[in-house]
Amino acid sequence: MRKLLITVVGLLISQVMCAQDYSKQVEKLLKKMTLEEKVGQMTQFTSSSDVTGPTLRDNVEKDVKAGHVGSLFNAVSAEYTRELQQMAVEETRLGIPLLFGYDVIHGFKTIFPIPLAEASSFDLEMIKGAARVAAEEASAAGIHWTFAPMVDVSRDPRWGRVMEGAGEDTYYNSVVAKARVEGFQGDDLSATNTVLACAKHFLAYGAAQGGRDYHTVDMSMQTLHDVYLPPFKACVDAGVETFMTSFNEINGIPSTANPYLFKEILRNQWDFKGMVVTDYTAINELIPHGIADNLQSAGELAVNAGIDMDMEGAVFLNTLVKAVKENKVSEETIDEAVRRILTVKFKLGLFDDPYKYCNAEREEKVTLSADFKRKARLAAQRSIVLLKNENQTLPITLSNTKKIALIGPLAKSRKDVLGGWKAKGSPKNAKSLFEGMKHATAGKAELLYAKGCKLSGEDKSGFEEALEVAKKADVIVLAIGESRVISGEAKSRSDISVPGVQTDLLAHLKQAGKPIVVVLMNGRPLTLEREDELADALLETWHLGTMAGPAIADVIFGAYNPSGKLPMTFPRNVGQIPIFYNVKNTGRPFNPEKPSGYKSTYLDVPNTPLYAFGYGLSYTKFEYSEIKMSSKSTDNEITASVEVKNVGDYDGEEVVQLYVQDVVGRSTRPLKELKGFEKIFLKQGETKTVTFNIKKEDLTYFRWDMSEGVEAGDFNVYIGTSSDNVKRASFTLTEGFEVRKDNPVKSK
Ligand code: NOJ
Repeated sequence: MRKLLITVVGLLISQVMCAQDYSKQVEKLLKKMTLEEKVGQMTQFTSSSDVTGPTLRDNVEKDVKAGHVGSLFNAVSAEYTRELQQMAVEETRLGIPLLFGYDVIHGFKTIFPIPLAEASSFDLEMIKGAARVAAEEASAAGIHWTFAPMVDVSRDPRWGRVMEGAGEDTYYNSVVAKARVEGFQGDDLSATNTVLACAKHFLAYGAAQGGRDYHTVDMSMQTLHDVYLPPFKACVDAGVETFMTSFNEINGIPSTANPYLFKEILRNQWDFKGMVVTDYTAINELIPHGIADNLQSAGELAVNAGIDMDMEGAVFLNTLVKAVKENKVSEETIDEAVRRILTVKFKLGLFDDPYKYCNAEREEKVTLSADFKRKARLAAQRSIVLLKNENQTLPITLSNTKKIALIGPLAKSRKDVLGGWKAKGSPKNAKSLFEGMKHATAGKAELLYAKGCKLSGEDKSGFEEALEVAKKADVIVLAIGESRVISGEAKSRSDISVPGVQTDLLAHLKQAGKPIVVVLMNGRPLTLEREDELADALLETWHLGTMAGPAIADVIFGAYNPSGKLPMTFPRNVGQIPIFYNVKNTGRPFNPEKPSGYKSTYLDVPNTPLYAFGYGLSYTKFEYSEIKMSSKSTDNEITASVEVKNVGDYDGEEVVQLYVQDVVGRSTRPLKELKGFEKIFLKQGETKTVTFNIKKEDLTYFRWDMSEGVEAGDFNVYIGTSSDNVKRASFTLTEGFEVRKDNPVKSK
């Protein structure tokens, strides 16, 4: 015990010492800096070697040498970053090293499944491991900082960026956020194989009206606090070093100009010590937003709101010196921002060795290594969701299958499987479904192929040839969905069906009279009523990255039993959006058993989605026992357990999900909220008990008066295989719990 205490105290002292060390060095450097040099540190530009937005400048090298830049992004490779770093270190007065950022969202060169796909795994260790690999590869190419994870709760599948997050649930987004931050940053930021993570986009970017990217957000403070803030808090708790602003306005104030978000919540309430960067030209955009009429006042609004670094806009660079001279911005505000920027540079160890990340030898060795590809394949297997499997169409058993027809515009694509935000991922290194299936069937079955149609457009001229091929086979595998370029930033869709004539091709192939396995590849939930009707089996494979082909083949032929669950609801049609599982009951809830009028429903479509949050099948079957509560009531915490039995014909994994409902509150509460889950492996015939601990702190929420807490009363507990297939129990909380009684909106 004594030994433990000494170690803990020792650790604390060394941490404080480290922090003090940096602060002394930071202060020393700060004293030497001119106001112009400080503003230079607060400026970030894109290099011209990669572009992720409208480019505003072309001679970034000149800016570096002039000391106008603290950070660059989109400059990659050990060699190129070394060249640029040398300019900063050797050709500027103070030689302050540059910070290199890049959007390493789901891999650098070894591309992992898109984040929404990875989230379908409900496997936090795997998700953390994927971020670790991305950090290893990116850091070897000179990158210090990834602009990830995106932790925006995303409830609108029309929004193209749903591919980049963990879906619609707040709790789930929070635990995934923690895993990703830990994966990127590792245990030691000064190690050369870790990168700074960035929690983005603060705040509520995923709630854009109509799912249209960059659009307005207007929502209650309760929803903001209950639904959208917690994943960001989870990032702070996990030690994230940086935050990014969002493009959108919230309730009339664009995030990039909102001191409530950055000063009050992030710094005062959460005690965040790291640095905040804007999104791409977000300060300039304060003018079209209509909150500033010139760049200088836009810059003043942003810096006074607590923003430290200006991405690409050059507004800080061009206006802040003047703003300080005119007393619109205090020099102390500038110093605070620069302190935070210099501190991360010290933490990375750049002042000891500015070239430590630019290591061409390591870059060559680690990039696309066999181990990383193996991990990418495992991640891809675990990200696949089985949506339908009539008559056990899957897995295809090669021992009694002679010919397989692989059809569809995505069957041979190596490019689309990489998904949006593919960083330096190249189709050259990726494996298509055709390649995966060819390898798996070699010497066992014949693989026939026809493209059938294109990904978009009306051309049906390939249908007949595809049908002929289909007729020759025992089973048809049809690969359809979205190309990689129609999800991601600025890729909103108003119609989220499978594009073009791809579903008509599916209907056409029915004439062959053979079982059809539809392999969907897409970056968002789609409306799939027709596909669900026509297909015998339906696999949601998202965009799975470099190893997509082999991983899908593993699932098709049963080398891996699918275990993914949907992190976002799949609507029946676009008119149902917004649709998500944790809705309120309303005063007139619809009851399908008594469907009389004047109820909260549509005339033309049920309230239920096509596939609910948490839904996903396995080749085996799991049976749940009734829930056992540790007691009927509690004043503090309680446990709920179930027995889960594998009653099917395969070994398999199941994601056991816990939901809670606060039956009566001072404010109304959702029908169900995810509060925990556990992914378990069960051999055929095996039973496991899964126990969840429910604490009253986990049940708190924001009320109308913006106090936060939970009241005594009755709670329902649901445990099951998806949000719409659960067992129920209940308990009574005998004593409430207040997090705070004051109003955080007014508090200073
Ligand atoms: C704009 C995107 O919104 C943001 O997420 C990204 O990090 C930057 N561009 C930089 O590419």
